[in-house]
Amino acid sequence: MAKNIALLGSTGSIGRQTLEVIENLGVSYRIVALAAGSNVELLEQQVRRFRPEMAVLNDPAAAARLERSLKGLHCRVEAGPGGVVKAARWPSADLVVSALVGFSGFIPTLEALQAGKRVALANKEALVVGGELLARRGLLNPDQILPIDSEHSAIRQSLGGASISQVQRIWLTASGGPFRGWTEDQLLRVTPAEALAHPNWRMGPKITVDSATLMNKGFEVIEACWLFGLPLDQIKVVIHPQSIVHSAVEFVDGSVIAQMGPPDMRLPIQYALCYPERVDNPWPRLNLFDLNLSFEEPDRARFPSLELAFRAKKAGGTMAACLNAANEVAVEHFLKGLLSFTDIPRLIENVMNAHTVMEKPEVEDLEKADLWARRSAVEQIARLTERS
Ligand SMILES: NC(=O)c1ccc[n+]([C@@H]2O[C@H](COP(=O)([O-])OP(=O)(O)OC[C@H]3O[C@@H](n4cnc5c(N)ncnc54)[C@H](OP(=O)(O)O)[C@@H]3O)[C@@H](O)[C@H]2O)c1
Repeated sequence: MAKNIALLGSTGSIGRQTLEVIENLGVSYRIVALAAGSNVELLEQQVRRFRPEMAVLNDPAAAARLERSLKGLHCRVEAGPGGVVKAARWPSADLVVSALVGFSGFIPTLEALQAGKRVALANKEALVVGGELLARRGLLNPDQILPIDSEHSAIRQSLGGASISQVQRIWLTASGGPFRGWTEDQLLRVTPAEALAHPNWRMGPKITVDSATLMNKGFEVIEACWLFGLPLDQIKVVIHPQSIVHSAVEFVDGSVIAQMGPPDMRLPIQYALCYPERVDNPWPRLNLFDLNLSFEEPDRARFPSLELAFRAKKAGGTMAACLNAANEVAVEHFLKGLLSFTDIPRLIENVMNAHTVMEKPEVEDLEKADLWARRSAVEQIARLTERS
C-alpha cells in the first residue's frame, strides 16, 4: 500500500534511519514533508533527494537560508514551531513519523493525532509529558499510534492483538548503559564523552545520556503504561546487556512471548512504517548459535532516575512534564560540563519536590509546567555552581 510520510526530526538519528528504511522500501513510500531544528545543510540534501512538498526548520534564520538554497525547487519552506505543526498536519501525509527530541515533539505529535494521521512514534517524551491528556482525548488508539521505540515495538509484536486483560506483566528490557556495575565513586567522575559512548546503540546525544542514567527506561515505563493501558506495577524493568530481547509479555497463563532481533533501530522503524505488513530487507540477522543472553535486576540505588519516573507517573497530572523538563535542562548542562553525572537525578528530584501538581492538565497547563520546571532547574544549577 502506498504511503505518504511526514518526517519530523529528519536530520536526527531516527530521522536519518527512517530515510534509509524508506529508500529500501522503494517507490510506494513517499516523503511529503520534512522537519528539523536548524541543520540547513543536511535538510537541503534530504530535500534534493526525497523531493518533499514542504520542508521546515524550527530556527527562522536557518529556514531563511534553506529557502534561498532551494529556490526553483518547488518545495515550500516554513519556519518555527508553527511550521513544524504544519508539517505534522500536512494534508497529503497519511503517516507522520514523530522523531523530534524532548518536549519539542509533544505539540506536533498531538496535532498529528488530532488531524487523524497515523503516527509512528519515536518521541517518547510526548507520552511522558502528555500521555494522560492524549488518553483523555481518546488519541491512543493502537491502530493510530505505532511505537518506534524497540521495547514498545517488541511489546506490541509480542501482544499480537491479545487483550490487555490477558497480560500478567511486561518485562521491559534495558541494556543498563555504559555504567552498569560502576561504583558510586566512579559515577561521580563520569565525563560527557563516556556517557555518550553507549555500548549497543548509536543514538542522538540526549537519549544516549538518558540511557546512561536509566531515565530513558523510566520514560519508557511511562510510555508503556499509556500505550498499552497498563498500571505501573505490571511493568518490570530488567537489565539485559546484550540488547537482543527487546522486551517480553508474560500472559496470565505463565507463557512469556518475547521479540528478539539485532540492536538495529531500522527494524522497529520499518515495522511501524509497514504495519501490518512485514517486508524483506538486507540488514544483519541474528544467529541464535552466537547468543549468550543474561538478565539482572536494575541497580535502583545507583541509578535513581528510574525511581523518579515511577514517582512522577504515580503523582500524575503535570508531574511527568516537570520530570521531563528538569531532565532536559540537567542533561544539557551535563553535556556542557556544568553539572556532574550524579547531580542529574539530584537536580530533577529537587525540582519535582518543589512542584505543585495540577491534575487533568490541558495543553497550556503542560506548557506552563514545562516552563516552570526549566526555570526551577536553571535556578537550582546556579545555586549548585555558587556553592562549589
Ligand atoms: N536514536 C535512537 O536510536 C532512538 C531510539 C528510540 C527512541 N528514540 C527517540 O526518538 C527521538 C529522537 O531521538 P534521536 O536520537 O533521533 O535525536 P537526535 O539525533 O538528537 O535528533 C533530533 C531531531 O529533532 C530535531 N529537532 C530538535 N529540536 C527541534 C525543534 N525544536 N523543532 C524541530 N526540530 C527539532 C533535530 O534537528 P537538528 O538536527 O536540525 O537539530 C533532529 O532532526 C527522541 O525522543 C528519542 O528518545 C531514539
